[in-house]
Amino acid sequence: MALRNILTEEDPTLRKVSRPVTKFDDRLHELLDDMAETLEDARGVGLAAPQVGILRRVVVVDVGEEILELINPEIISESGEQTGLEGCLSVPGKYGIVTRPNVVKVRAQDRFGAWYEAEGEELIARAFCHELEHLDGHLYVDKVERFLTQEELEELANEAEDEA
Ligand code: NI
Repeated sequence: MALRNILTEEDPTLRKVSRPVTKFDDRLHELLDDMAETLEDARGVGLAAPQVGILRRVVVVDVGEEILELINPEIISESGEQTGLEGCLSVPGKYGIVTRPNVVKVRAQDRFGAWYEAEGEELIARAFCHELEHLDGHLYVDKVERFLTQEELEELANEAEDEA
């Protein structure tokens, strides 16, 4: 396994539409393992393949007890609404307020090509929406209601320190 370099906002690769995965081979498994390691190292919630420069429909999301691997994912249902904090590993140092559905169900393939469904609430629902948008070249900064101010960011950092 290896850490992959995470592209940042200004990289045009992040604006491209990713292609579906058709081969569930060793190369895909290596990508998934590297993405999981990169996500853990960056302490993120989710990571999409275009963020590491691979224009394929592959996403990993840390759902707490495991890292969920979503290949060729699509949203099949969503309900409710949440308005809250969102960030992106490709937009370091910034957080914004974004409104998302509160419950999201996705359909995706696993690393061997088998289809499965997964439902997420709150943070996980937010991550499903955010990561799937990466596959179509969209970033949350396109729809952010407002960014946190420097003061709010400092408060957030202090709170995180208190928790640690
Ligand atoms: Ni992101």
